Amino acid sequence: MKTKHMVVIGDAYNMAELDNESIQLVVTSPPYFNVKDYGTENIGSIDSYAGYLKSLRQVFEECYRVLAKGRYVCVNISDIISNGRKYPIHAHCISILQRCGFKYVDNIIWKKPSGRKNGNCSGASKRFGLLIQHPYPMYYYPNNTYEHILVFRKGDFDYKMLTHDMKEDSKINIRYARLHWNTDIWEMMPETRKGHPAMFPEQLPEALIRLYTYRGEAVLDPFLGSGTTSAVAKKLCRSSVGYEINEAYLELIKKKSGYSEDPHSFEIIVKKPRGEMI
Ligand SMILES: C[S@@+](CC[C@H](N)C(=O)[O-])C[C@H]1O[C@@H](n2cnc3c(N)ncnc32)[C@H](O)[C@@H]1O
Repeated sequence: MKTKHMVVIGDAYNMAELDNESIQLVVTSPPYFNVKDYGTENIGSIDSYAGYLKSLRQVFEECYRVLAKGRYVCVNISDIISNGRKYPIHAHCISILQRCGFKYVDNIIWKKPSGRKNGNCSGASKRFGLLIQHPYPMYYYPNNTYEHILVFRKGDFDYKMLTHDMKEDSKINIRYARLHWNTDIWEMMPETRKGHPAMFPEQLPEALIRLYTYRGEAVLDPFLGSGTTSAVAKKLCRSSVGYEINEAYLELIKKKSGYSEDPHSFEIIVKKPRGEMI
């Protein structure tokens, strides 16, 4: 099946390239608040927490506009410890997405293996060390070994529009699903490859794309990073759109999503920061 892949190097505040209701699934992992260095001015580098949340809301409002009725948005996010303070980002994200108009469906926990560096930010995987140094009450901070995958939906879906062929073409392997997705705790290893400071593992978008889209449909990632979502969408015969503010990741995105083997299926748009075309 021929699929199309659009990569926009630009700001996801304004996804003018996309028509209303033209996307069937959003899968994304927003920038961490004030922690990771993504190499350019971006939502993660905003100092104020209120400003960070306001920016996320702007992007999610655009997601609401471009998402088709009855379809899903899946947001991988974790609470953040910055300057010794823990920010309940997942809780604020639930509230923001609800205010954008989405219905809250699920909070899937991505559990990482414990007892090793788990890819979490700012020493969150080393917090238990304090109790080892001070084995007394009130020195307890557990290692953080999970992230959230928040699942939302835009209204109701008309299941009658699905044809027999569509369903059979995208049928889910129930043996595999029972083994890995039976509960709302999913165990996955974090991504350890280099090139981008906060990649999610391919299994994460793969599960969501298989569970929430049919072959040939379009998946959007407004915070594309290294291009994981587009790469997986392509592999699963879905089209994709990704926005990434930092042009330095474009080569990685191309490499990961197999641009050189199939350049005709890609459209790459590079915008200036304020949305002006180069
Ligand atoms: C957590 S990373 C996403 C990583 C991605 N899931 C992957 O597997 O590579 C968030 C990305 O959002 C990008 N970003 C931050 N603000 C943005 C904005 N306003 N518009 C588009 N991308 C933005 C950052 O540069 C960073 O690459």
